Amino acid sequence: MLTVVGLGPGSEDYLTLKAITVLKRADIVLTPSRYLNVVRKYAGNSDIVLLDPRNVRGQVLELAREYPDSNVVVVSSGDPLFSGIGKTVLDLGIECEIVPGISSIQLACAKVRTSWDNMIFLSLHEREHISHLNNVLVKALKRNIKIGILTSPDYPPHYVISLAKTYANMYRSSVRAFVCSNLSLENEQVLALDNIDSVDIVRADWNSVLILEPCIDKHRLLYEPTLL
Ligand SMILES: C[S@@+](CC[C@H](N)C(=O)[O-])C[C@H]1O[C@@H](n2cnc3c(N)ncnc32)[C@H](O)[C@@H]1O
Repeated sequence: MLTVVGLGPGSEDYLTLKAITVLKRADIVLTPSRYLNVVRKYAGNSDIVLLDPRNVRGQVLELAREYPDSNVVVVSSGDPLFSGIGKTVLDLGIECEIVPGISSIQLACAKVRTSWDNMIFLSLHEREHISHLNNVLVKALKRNIKIGILTSPDYPPHYVISLAKTYANMYRSSVRAFVCSNLSLENEQVLALDNIDSVDIVRADWNSVLILEPCIDKHRLLYEPTLL
């Protein structure tokens, strides 16, 4: 049986009891290196295989085929079904159980005390999300919708903020931003930017959740009602 388990944003504080139970029962664990300490702690007697980001599909397929009668556990950061390895396993058509974890987006929203029930989510690790980035920014600015973005090495926070700045000027919006980096880890950093227009350089790690909160210039509505 194969189980995909989310281990949360990083710190053990955000592990669920269910995740610990799954790790304790594992025969084999496939894990990203950043969760190695947690995996060793709770699944110390299992065989531990490090995930190779360039061969995720191959590794998962091999374990599923070679060990159909073992408890094979595949570790995901955050929640497996938000830009995590859960989608890869489902796409491969492998029979599995998925155990949710606390997503970095949940922790970011909690940190900055904003709700995520009216937010658009994007992950800049996903090709199709990257191609939607411009459209989503424009739509969100026009309609005053919040966006939660998982940034990546190729699309770090400062890249998205400078893009958002350009559109904010175009649509006469002001945009508040929160850059939540390395949440729950020793080097956690949360930057609150009241208006991205007045910020020149944003120094933040790519391992961040960026929350953008547009705020339309009310006077604009007098002239451009059709935008809404
Ligand atoms: C491949 S995605 C995995 C997301 C994960 N499945 C989740 O639900 O959080 C990796 C991205 O998640 C975000 N992320 C993961 N852990 C984080 C943390 N501790 N602090 C801030 N962002 C984090 C970053 O945007 C990172 O680039």
